[in-house]
Amino acid sequence: MRSFTMNNGLAIPALGYGVFQMSSAEVAEHLPEAIDAGYRHIDTANAYFNEVAVGRVVAGSPVAREDFFVTTKLFPQSYPYAQCGPDIDATLERLGMDYVDLLLFHQPYGEYVAGWRAMEEAVEAGRVRSIGLSNFSAAKVREILDVARIAPAVLQVEAHPYWNQHALKAELDGTGIVFEAWYPLGHGDRALLAEPALTEPAARYGKTAAQVVLRWHLQEGNVTFPKTLNAQHMADNIDVFDFALTEAEMARINALPQKPYYAVPDEPPAFTTRRMDYSQQA
Ligand SMILES: NC(=O)c1ccc[n+]([C@@H]2O[C@H](COP(=O)([O-])OP(=O)(O)OC[C@H]3O[C@@H](n4cnc5c(N)ncnc54)[C@H](OP(=O)(O)O)[C@@H]3O)[C@@H](O)[C@H]2O)c1
Repeated sequence: MRSFTMNNGLAIPALGYGVFQMSSAEVAEHLPEAIDAGYRHIDTANAYFNEVAVGRVVAGSPVAREDFFVTTKLFPQSYPYAQCGPDIDATLERLGMDYVDLLLFHQPYGEYVAGWRAMEEAVEAGRVRSIGLSNFSAAKVREILDVARIAPAVLQVEAHPYWNQHALKAELDGTGIVFEAWYPLGHGDRALLAEPALTEPAARYGKTAAQVVLRWHLQEGNVTFPKTLNAQHMADNIDVFDFALTEAEMARINALPQKPYYAVPDEPPAFTTRRMDYSQQA
């Protein structure tokens, strides 16, 4: 597995398995298949309500804990400084882990500046290895950078060939922040996967359009964790290290029309502000 190096010197596997919109039962069934297929990087979140199931699979796996790279995320309810430490402890308890490899602030609302200090303290206490952000604009990332003793190591945002995030990357150039792509396959958008800019290289290399997208991400420097419940897709998605797109093929993909599937609102949507009870996980 190829890795990228974060600005704290630690490695992050370039490709993983995302468990968004997976029930605990689906995690129990499919995450072991992903581990068997070679995935070691898992992307979950408090708000996915499946951390208990993820933790059980990792604990029951023959693969050693230190060989996994586990990411989870806190919602804005957890950002107030006094709340953040206890909520990190509760997160680790649900996962049944004494550390996570990467912890993110999931949404760019609320007391993220104050909470960042609690994130740094969790790193210093060895509870978290790396910390980062998700769905933050460059301006909001800079608010954190202005106070940070430990800079965000990653920024997880929507990214795929229809939303390549080149503008955001340019704004954060020089920070060493590694970009992680959510919706790496456009959430399975058939129109995206039918683009000739993807299907033509796919035919040339004997790959699928989805594999070409994931290869494009790798060459763009994006970490991805495509989600799939399909065993063939699971095997395909990790089989992208034996071919390379040419500069012309990359440029053609980067010339596709740009539009996000989801525009992050400036004001917090209701789902980000209420306090959620994560204790109820089947
Ligand atoms: N930070 C955030 O706010 C945020 C938001 C959204 C997602 N995420 C993270 O990003 C991960 C991925 O996002 P996502 O699951 O929404 O979108 P995605 O990975 O872009 O797309 C998943 C869809 O693509 C299909 N698919 C997967 N592999 C395929 C292949 N090889 N060929 C054809 N279709 C394929 C899947 O269907 P099959 O099951 O049929 O393969 C599924 O419907 C999530 O699991 C989560 O970890 C984070």
